[in-house]
Amino acid sequence: MKRILVSGGAGFIGSHLCTRLVNEGNDVICLDNYYTGSKENVWHRIGRPNFELVRHDIVNPYWAEVDEIYNLACPASPIHYQHDPIQTTKTAVVGTMNMLGLAKRINAKILQASTSEVYGDPALHPQPEEYWGNVNPVGIRSCYDEGKRCAETLCMDYHRRHGVRVKIIRIFNTYGPRMLAHDGRVVSNFVVQALKGENLTIYGDGHQTRSFQYVDDLVEGMVRVMEQTPDEFNGPINIGNPGEFTMLELAEMVIRMT
Ligand SMILES: NC(=O)c1ccc[n+]([C@@H]2O[C@H](COP(=O)([O-])OP(=O)(O)OC[C@H]3O[C@@H](n4cnc5c(N)ncnc54)[C@H](O)[C@@H]3O)[C@@H](O)[C@H]2O)c1
Repeated sequence: MKRILVSGGAGFIGSHLCTRLVNEGNDVICLDNYYTGSKENVWHRIGRPNFELVRHDIVNPYWAEVDEIYNLACPASPIHYQHDPIQTTKTAVVGTMNMLGLAKRINAKILQASTSEVYGDPALHPQPEEYWGNVNPVGIRSCYDEGKRCAETLCMDYHRRHGVRVKIIRIFNTYGPRMLAHDGRVVSNFVVQALKGENLTIYGDGHQTRSFQYVDDLVEGMVRVMEQTPDEFNGPINIGNPGEFTMLELAEMVIRMT
């Protein structure tokens, strides 16, 4: 049994991760400011003695003695991260620095939930980890893309400077239960439109491709990277489905399944 802190644990991915970690018997603290997450996402767990839910904004320092930290706190969909872009940058940069500072002080291992968006508007498909990306530093998505890039930089500098055991994963499009219906992501958009019997909105010619993974597969990958890689392994590592779909293929699949 380990003591594990999950920042952003009341969100879509975090709630699945908390469930998995609690079910394995770990002592889990979930930190969340409920910006996009909710108590309902983890409500069914609150009665368990090995689960604690704490309202906290990671832009402010936090202290607890834990063995591992999963740093997921950050709005992840464009609608939400653009709503308050300065808070998004603060969460990605200052919040990650606070989590790294905690990891350093208590000698905890920390996994950083980074994103395929660090590649920006990539000139290479699919993107290998060695690719440095093609990112606009001044656009409306920059608060997220550049915030997450800076968070990766901080992880590696805490590792090189202070020996913190960091693991950086870059998550690709993830879907599954508890996604928010109106967060503007393509899977939820298509499913909601199809269930309402509306036309599905496809931007461009629909031939652009994306990789999609089910949330349980991502959680499995996160836990394996945290638990089963040696301390010298820092990543970054892409976690997603290597196969890609065009938006037209995805739309057809959603229509078939609904
Ligand atoms: N869902 C995806 O497809 C995807 C893809 C790439 C990366 N990611 C990353 O995975 C992580 C989780 O994403 P998600 O899809 O579950 O998003 P989400 O919005 O459902 O979850 C994020 C959680 O963080 C919380 N949060 C936001 N700012 C905070 C702050 N300052 N302090 C404390 N809590 C805060 C929110 O309330 C929410 O519960 C994010 O870091 C995101 O960048 C997700």
